[in-house]
Amino acid sequence: MSSLTLNERRNRLNTSFTPYKAIYLPEWFAGRTKLRDRAWDAVNSSGRHIVIFGDRGTGKTSLARVLAVEVQEPKSPTGRRSIVVSCSSNDDFSSIWRKVFQEIQVTQRQIGFMQDATAPVVGRVEVGEDGIENPGDVRLLVRSLPNPAIIFIDEFDRVPVNGAHRLMADTIKLFSDTGVDSTIVIVGVADSIADLIAGHESIARNIAQIQLLPMELAELSLIVRQGYKYAELGSDRGLDGKIAELSQGYPAYTHLLGLWAGRRTLDGNRTTVTYGDLDGAIGDALENAAGNLQQEYERAVASVRKDNLFREVLLGCALAEKDSLGRFAAVNVREPLHRITGKDYETGAFQSHLAKFAEKQRGPVLKQTGTRRNYRWQFLNPQLIPYVRLNGIQTGLIDR
Ligand SMILES: Nc1ncnc2c1ncn2[C@@H]1O[C@H](COP(=O)(O)OP(=O)(O)OP(=O)(O)O)[C@@H](O)[C@H]1O
Ligand SMILES: [Mg+2]
Repeated sequence: MSSLTLNERRNRLNTSFTPYKAIYLPEWFAGRTKLRDRAWDAVNSSGRHIVIFGDRGTGKTSLARVLAVEVQEPKSPTGRRSIVVSCSSNDDFSSIWRKVFQEIQVTQRQIGFMQDATAPVVGRVEVGEDGIENPGDVRLLVRSLPNPAIIFIDEFDRVPVNGAHRLMADTIKLFSDTGVDSTIVIVGVADSIADLIAGHESIARNIAQIQLLPMELAELSLIVRQGYKYAELGSDRGLDGKIAELSQGYPAYTHLLGLWAGRRTLDGNRTTVTYGDLDGAIGDALENAAGNLQQEYERAVASVRKDNLFREVLLGCALAEKDSLGRFAAVNVREPLHRITGKDYETGAFQSHLAKFAEKQRGPVLKQTGTRRNYRWQFLNPQLIPYVRLNGIQTGLIDR
């Protein structure tokens, strides 16, 4: 028998479902076991550094944060310490490292670095006014730290492409070549590490590449089950799998749908989440989706003509069968478009829609790749795919 009140359940629901916040605690981090193991191995091999990359919203920051917690050795005075900083579009090589050392100074005060606050201040990092200009400066400062540091640099993709990308590669190389026992972890949105690190070929041996693809159904289902279990809510058979499927690999949707469906259950003074709750939660998820997905969507399908096909064709694209890189051909849109409209359109009837989706005026939301004889299309922001599908369900164009 459960002891929680509905209010306590509601609070727990808010703890377990976090659509707008990265995961910080390992117990809330679902799946990704192999990647975690590989990152762990890299931290434990001298001369190895890490690049965590992937599409927007795949869970990069969460993996980095959880790793930061796991690799620390807070009980050991000389153990490893984690430092996490986030970059912005104003940053360059020098300002990123200033942030790192400022963060270390805060951690020092919080007795993270150097356990005993009464101990003599050995190797205290002082960053002078002249700052940090090159990899050599960074190396000297890092070597003066009393503890090995695991330095996480998140949102590295936001740093303007100036010297920073090459200087970071040079720093990794220098750390590896001179046996600095600290690890650099670069995190950012990218299709490949070449987008994040200039001259990455020269450091290929020194970095573990951790690519985050969209999450698996089993991993996303686990997020739902874990969350409901903690809030002491039951759920209809298969509901976790359904939420996972609707999320299309993007965990923020799993959190949104899990959260809002659970709230509807509690609003009805019930303790079992039903498919009816999920149906209602789809509208909630669309309204509360992060960022500007709503605007992105509306801009893509906007039209003054009532009989236009933009909504249907974009939904067809979201439903179209895709290759492992998320690319599809126009013919792949035919079958879903038939399902949506009940009409059998030739590809020629919606080719111009695809082209318009790739124009600035409509986003662009699609990108064209391939050659003239073999065009492929691709969503520029893959997080729009689950949004468009949920929208299709909400507006009755397709069934849940
Ligand atoms: N392994 C996981 N288990 C449970 N939830 C996760 C997991 N990974 C990510 N999430 C959730 O997914 C959402 C996106 O995660 P996160 O912010 O880490 O992604 P990101 O790739 O860093 O995004 P961005 O590209 O916007 O920086 C958050 O709500 C987070 O709580
Ligand atoms: Mg992030």
